[in-house]
Amino acid sequence: MNKTILVYATRWGATTETAQEIKNVLSEKYNIEVDLVNLKDKKKKENRNPDISPYENIIIGISVAKFRWAKEGKKFLKKNKGALAGKKLFVFVSSGGAGEAYQKRNIEEYERLQKKWIDNNLDKWGIKFTSRKAFGGRYVGQYSHLGDNRDWSQIRSWAEEVGKIIDSGELNC
Ligand SMILES: Cc1cc2nc3c(=O)[nH]c(=O)nc-3n(C[C@H](O)[C@H](O)[C@H](O)COP(=O)(O)O)c2cc1C
Repeated sequence: MNKTILVYATRWGATTETAQEIKNVLSEKYNIEVDLVNLKDKKKKENRNPDISPYENIIIGISVAKFRWAKEGKKFLKKNKGALAGKKLFVFVSSGGAGEAYQKRNIEEYERLQKKWIDNNLDKWGIKFTSRKAFGGRYVGQYSHLGDNRDWSQIRSWAEEVGKIIDSGELNC
């Protein structure tokens, strides 16, 4: 048994598309089946608090906007803090700021934002991850002129990295 769930918290849908792409890569390249759960799905209340006990591999994607994580992502991690120990945790964020730095190849700024949006939050709650990545996002509304700065080859190559680790089946200690 080496089951995988991908939960995500989105505001405007970019994280949904990124999550779907990761699911596709895992399925097509590694034959890994992924259960996709939108933590904010209004029609499915059970999605707000999914049971992760049957899963060894947890992937979580979180939207970053207005200088904060989508709150459902934070809630999920805090609530499952204990249950996550001993599982493999893979974390990604959709961050327009990180996407811009990555596009400009401003690696120092990109690394700073990746730490800010992923490592620092998880450190605060004592949660360890197996792998993580900050991706760009798609701006909407009054910011829509800033466009979509996701790099799909970056997304696919991280998904492959995740696939290799899941495929190896080694337990995370
Ligand atoms: C109103 C607004 C505020 C935003 N604030 C931030 C921010 O503080 N930092 C950042 O990196 N990106 C910011 N972004 C870009 C988001 O990261 C981007 O829209 C992302 O795709 C959001 O994910 P979602 O579509 O899954 O909700 C903002 C976008 C909008 C529309």
